[in-house]
Amino acid sequence: MVSKTCTFVLVLYLLTLLKRLETKHDTHHSHPHHNHSQSSVSNNRLNQAYIALQAWKKVIYSDPTNYTSNWVGSSVCSYRGIYCGPAINDNSTTVVSGIDLNHLDLAGFLPDEIGLLSDLALFHINSNRFCGILPLTMSNLTLLYELDLSNNRFVGGFPSVVLSLPSLKYLDLRYNEFEGSVPSDLFNNNSLDAIFVNNNRFTSVIPSNLGMSTASVVVFANNKFGGCLPPSIANFANSIEELLLINTSLTGCLPVEVGYLYKLRVLDVSYNKLVGQIPYSIAGLAHLEQLNLAHNMMSGEVGDGICVLPNLANFTLSYNFFCEEQGICQNLTSRGVVFDDRRNCLPGKPLQRSNKACDAVLEHPVECEEFHCHHS
Ligand SMILES: *[C@@H]1O[C@H](CO)[C@@H](O)[C@H](O)[C@H]1NC(C)=O
Ligand SMILES: *[C@@H]1O[C@H](CO)[C@@H](O)[C@H](O)[C@H]1NC(C)=O
Ligand SMILES: *[C@@H]1O[C@H](CO)[C@@H](O)[C@H](O)[C@H]1NC(C)=O
Ligand SMILES: *[C@@H]1O[C@H](CO)[C@@H](O)[C@H](O)[C@H]1NC(C)=O
Ligand SMILES: *[C@@H]1O[C@H](CO)[C@@H](O)[C@H](O)[C@H]1NC(C)=O
Ligand SMILES: *[C@@H]1O[C@H](CO)[C@@H](O)[C@H](O)[C@H]1NC(C)=O
Ligand SMILES: *[C@@H]1O[C@H](CO)[C@@H](O)[C@H](O)[C@H]1NC(C)=O
Ligand SMILES: *[C@@H]1O[C@H](CO)[C@@H](O)[C@H](O)[C@H]1NC(C)=O
Repeated sequence: MVSKTCTFVLVLYLLTLLKRLETKHDTHHSHPHHNHSQSSVSNNRLNQAYIALQAWKKVIYSDPTNYTSNWVGSSVCSYRGIYCGPAINDNSTTVVSGIDLNHLDLAGFLPDEIGLLSDLALFHINSNRFCGILPLTMSNLTLLYELDLSNNRFVGGFPSVVLSLPSLKYLDLRYNEFEGSVPSDLFNNNSLDAIFVNNNRFTSVIPSNLGMSTASVVVFANNKFGGCLPPSIANFANSIEELLLINTSLTGCLPVEVGYLYKLRVLDVSYNKLVGQIPYSIAGLAHLEQLNLAHNMMSGEVGDGICVLPNLANFTLSYNFFCEEQGICQNLTSRGVVFDDRRNCLPGKPLQRSNKACDAVLEHPVECEEFHCHHS
C-alpha cells in the first residue's frame, strides 16, 4: 500500500503532468515546431525512452493519421502523444511521464522495450487496434498510476503483470478479448480505485475469496462469469460505490451481504439469471441512487424499505416475476423516482406477464439456501 503522504505527492505530480498535457494539446496543432527547451537536454532516462519508442514505432504497422510520423530523432518530448515532466524523485531530470495515444486507430502491439519507460505515470492507448499480449517487462513501470488499454484487441488470460504495479489506481481493460478467469488478486493486495473489466471474455465465477478491496468503482458487465455473487462481496464494503454486474450470467439469489455495501450509489445486476427475493438488507443502503434488477427471474414482494430509501432516483425491476409491491412501491413516481415494473406478475398493474407465464414460475418457489452455486 502506498502511504497517504506518498499518494498526495503523487497526485500533485499527476496534476502538474495533466496541466502540461492540456497545454500541449492546446498548442501542438498551431505550433507544431515549438521549442521544447526541456527536450533539448537529453539524459539517460530520455535515451531509454527513445529506444522504447523507436522499438514501438517499428511494430505499429498501421497509423491512418500518420500520428507517429514525427517520432524521429532523440527529442522524444516533442513526439506527438508523448508527455515529459520532471522525474518524481529528481525534479532537475526530465523524463517521459505520460503517453496519450487515444482514438488513433493504430494497429500493432506492445514490444518488450515498453519496460524501459519506467517513469511513466499515465499510459492511455484506448480505441486503437493494438493486439497480442502485454509484455511482462511492464512490471518495470513502478510509477504507473493510470493504465487505459480499453477498446483494443488484446488477447490471452488476465494480464497479471498489471497486478505487480505498486502505484496503479486506475485500471481499464474493457472492450478487449481477454479470457479465462479473473484472478482474486485483482481485489486483494493492491490499491486500485477503479477497475473496468467489462466486455471481455472472462468466464470464471467471481472469486469467492474476495479480499478487502480498495476499489470504489468495479464494472464487470458483459462477461460470462456464471455462478453466484459470493457473500465475500461484503469485503468491498469500505470502498465500493458503483457495482455493475450487468449480463454476467449470474445465477442463484442475491446474497444478503449486498446490503452490507453501505457506500453503494449504483447497483446494477440486470440481464442475469438471478432468482429468489430481493434481500431486505438492501433497504439499509442509504446512499443508493440507482437500482437495476431488470431481466432476471426474481420473485416475491418488493419491500417498502427499498422504496423509501432517501436517495433513490431510479428503480428498475422490469422483466422479473415479482408478485407484490408494498406501500409506496405501488406508486414510486409520486416520490419523483423513475420506476419501471413492467413484465412482472403484479396484480392490477399494466403491462404484466400472462397468468400462465407467472404460474409456471411461481409454483416452484426458490429456496436460496438450497441453490448450488458452483463456487470454485
Ligand atoms: C530552444 O530554446 C533554447 C533556450 O530558449 C535554446 O538554447 C535552444 O537552442 C533552442 N533549441 C532549438 C532547437 O531551437
Ligand atoms: C500519411 O503519409 C503517407 C506517406 O507519406 C501519405 O501517403 C498519406 O496521405 C498520409 N496520410 C495522412 C492522413 O496524412
Ligand atoms: C526541486 O527540488 C529541490 C530539492 O528537492 C527543491 O529545493 C526545489 O525547490 C525543487 N524545484 C522545483 C521547481 O520544484
Ligand atoms: C527497467 O527500467 C530501467 C530504467 O529505470 C532499465 O534500466 C531496465 O532495463 C528496465 N528493465 C526492463 C526489463 O525493461
Ligand atoms: C502483494 O503484492 C506484492 C507486489 O505485487 C507482492 O510482492 C506480494 O507477494 C503480494 N503479497 C501477497 C500476500 O500476495
Ligand atoms: C451479454 O453479453 C454477451 C457476451 O458475453 C453478448 O453477446 C450479449 O449481446 C450481451 N447481452 C446484452 C443484453 O447486452
Ligand atoms: C433508469 O435506469 C434504467 C436502467 O438502468 C435506464 O435504462 C434508464 O435510462 C434510467 N432512467 C433515467 C431517467 O435515468
Ligand atoms: C400516485 O400518486 C399520484 C400523486 O400523488 C396520484 O396522482 C396518483 O393517482 C397515484 N396513483 C395511484 C395508482 O395510486
